[in-house]
Amino acid sequence: MTIPFNKNLNKISTYEPGKSGVKNSIKRVIKLSSNESPLEFSKNTIKKIKNIKVNLNRYPDPYCKQLREKVSKVYKVKKNNIIFGNGSDELFFLISYCFLNRKVEGLYSRHGFLIYPIAINAAGAKAVYSKETNFKADVNELIKKSNKNTRVCFIANPNNPTGTYLKKNEIKILRERLPKKCLLVIDSAYSEYVVKDDYCDSLDYAKTRNDIIVTHTFSKIFGIPSVRLGWAYCPAEIVEKLNKIRPSFNINFYAQKIGQYILEDKAFIKKSIKHNLYWKSWVTKKLNAMGIDVLEGVANFILLVLKRKEHVLLLANYLENNNILVRKLNAYKLDNCLRITIGSEKDLKSLVDYIKKFKKEKKIDFI
Ligand SMILES: Cc1ncc(COP(=O)(O)O)c(C=O)c1O
Repeated sequence: MTIPFNKNLNKISTYEPGKSGVKNSIKRVIKLSSNESPLEFSKNTIKKIKNIKVNLNRYPDPYCKQLREKVSKVYKVKKNNIIFGNGSDELFFLISYCFLNRKVEGLYSRHGFLIYPIAINAAGAKAVYSKETNFKADVNELIKKSNKNTRVCFIANPNNPTGTYLKKNEIKILRERLPKKCLLVIDSAYSEYVVKDDYCDSLDYAKTRNDIIVTHTFSKIFGIPSVRLGWAYCPAEIVEKLNKIRPSFNINFYAQKIGQYILEDKAFIKKSIKHNLYWKSWVTKKLNAMGIDVLEGVANFILLVLKRKEHVLLLANYLENNNILVRKLNAYKLDNCLRITIGSEKDLKSLVDYIKKFKKEKKIDFI
């Protein structure tokens, strides 16, 4: 190849999503590898989705007017402070292109969501990470790693893959201590699952400042990762800049329609929170009883922390051979951990049965 590639690509490892299929399998696959919702929408929502009529020969609304009105109402944010993305992933790239270049740095925490360093590097900047304490982003360490060249700090709150979160006051301290020229991006992909008094998605705080972006997604509790829809609250000046590089029709017709319907499905959200809390605690207890340490976290997944790294691979392969997909985390530098989504009751019961079988057949006691 004679055409030189952009050198920024050399610093990027391709993102590996959670597995989504088992080769040559005719048996049902139990997918617990991508933090997807296991639940069905309310009947009314399903009916509305089935009745969507599309003019295939027309572009979608580039401004997402109706969806914008709905998001604005539900999340109590002004319409002009909203920008939509083809998944929140797209927003992380747009933000990086707006604020980063080869002379500056982007910051994230050690086990933070891996799209951040990819977006930072794609924009040509240096990706810098800070140490975590007990699988949790550490405000002091983030501050230590920031400097006059740090332009963006990405924090998933709660974080994937650890499920830990920064409390409201920790977010405030982080924002206040970060350099003034550094934007704080709070990725709230899992926030709707969290039921802790000392947590919030920081939208209200962001509204009082001009240096915070809060992102949300329709891929997690809202259960529509297939249509790719995310949004961000941004100060108006930032929305204007992001819009300069946003592909004009980045939100397709179905995403705009289905997004509105899901926001109206309050019963589905309530059911999802309840299901998640109950079955997360259930599966944690079952695994604990087998001698496995579990970080329960506040999102829709758990983190298994095994004492021996080699058990991780053995267990993940055993489950995969039995059509159960879980997430290995080597790319996150969590070699002794596995992430498992809170799936349906049936799927979690199968998971527990197979882990029991694994323990017995392989004579492994996880100690
Ligand atoms: C922390 C976090 N942020 C963002 C995303 C991406 O969401 P989207 O599907 O909106 O691109 C994910 C997906 O797994 C995630 O875990």
